[in-house]
Amino acid sequence: MASEPGLRIEQRPLSDGARSRFPALRDAPGTVFFDNAAGAQVPEEVLDAIREHLLRRNVQRGGRYDRSQAVEAMLGEARERVASFLNAESPQEISFGLNSTSLIRMIAECTRPKLRAGDEVVVTELDHEANIGPWLRLEASGVKARFWKIRSPGARLETRDLEELLRSGRVRLVAMPLASNATGGVVDVAAASRLARKAGATTFVDAVHFAPHGRIDVQELGADFLAFSGYKIFGPHMGFLWGRLDALRELKPAREFFIPADPPYAFEAGTQTYEGIAGMLGAMRYLASLDAEGSLPRAMDRIRSDERGLSEALLTALADVRGLTILGESDPGRAEARVPTVSFAISGFDPARIVEHLASRGIQARDGHLYAPRLLEASGIDPKTGLARVSLCHYNTREEIEKLREALHALSSRNT
Ligand SMILES: Cc1ncc(COP(=O)(O)O)c(C=O)c1O
Repeated sequence: MASEPGLRIEQRPLSDGARSRFPALRDAPGTVFFDNAAGAQVPEEVLDAIREHLLRRNVQRGGRYDRSQAVEAMLGEARERVASFLNAESPQEISFGLNSTSLIRMIAECTRPKLRAGDEVVVTELDHEANIGPWLRLEASGVKARFWKIRSPGARLETRDLEELLRSGRVRLVAMPLASNATGGVVDVAAASRLARKAGATTFVDAVHFAPHGRIDVQELGADFLAFSGYKIFGPHMGFLWGRLDALRELKPAREFFIPADPPYAFEAGTQTYEGIAGMLGAMRYLASLDAEGSLPRAMDRIRSDERGLSEALLTALADVRGLTILGESDPGRAEARVPTVSFAISGFDPARIVEHLASRGIQARDGHLYAPRLLEASGIDPKTGLARVSLCHYNTREEIEKLREALHALSSRNT
């Protein structure tokens, strides 16, 4: 945000007002929830919206009576809200689904008939397996999968490496993440999409991990498809697919006669979880309320800048722990290159033991392969033991980071 030179406007951290709106945080004041990458907490607005739907509007759409028409209107409004969350050109570009994994699988399977033996798809070493496996399965049709590899240090994807892969002239699709759920690193999807487009390749973006952390502008990213999940952005368990209208129209998903051939309906199997979609409207309302004028994009920018401070504080705190190494960007001065998700090891300690120790102190974190076993292997880490991970979002605080620092100190000093 622009400000006059010398005049610094201090904003209160978002967590100040946000925490009291999340019953799970408000009612458990001693608990530190640092497992947001696995699913975030939900604000009261979401519960109210689900309750209202189930109690007063739990009917099928398409009927000739008022409650059914109210469901239709709610679905239309939710599509519009998600379209504005992504700056999509039209709500028609938004399809609802069960979760991101099933949406990625569907797009991969619809892509299969468009590919010929010898065509190539590019997948990355940085992705969650949900955005690798479905594309690798295309190999059964004679397609060749090639890996866009990470670079050390920092486990980064470099655009020049994609450029090299695209030189074959046979790449038809590039699947990549907007941010890694293991390293927290943000990928330059706009640059990658530009290169892919020039080479005639379609692009699929897994935005699941980035979505709660900042503004997504699909027009700026320039990709063809993108998926994200409701339960990571303070809403219920469901998934969203965005696709450029012409890119969606080129695909022919399996459908029964009663499902229209045009997007978005062609990509939606059967009846959706209407209460979940109502809940997502609640989540979007919550997010928009974080901006004084209710602007969703500005609210997401505010989250991004607030979380930069959290990333800096977190990396600074972790740098203080003896024997701790981070997979990914560890420089607090480069917090803009990441979101506040950090995976780490402490020499001499099993990640499971680290996370159990944190749990005993009321800090909820995660350990294991983080669904990114290829990334761990490429980084010389055994996926069976994996790493410990803390993942923060805008409702977390510096006091909680201090608690983490103290807990890790206590653990690492036992190793003497
Ligand atoms: C980066 C990333 N991609 C994909 C997924 C899968 O999403 P879903 O659980 O909605 O299928 C996850 C889930 O943790 C994720 O973190």
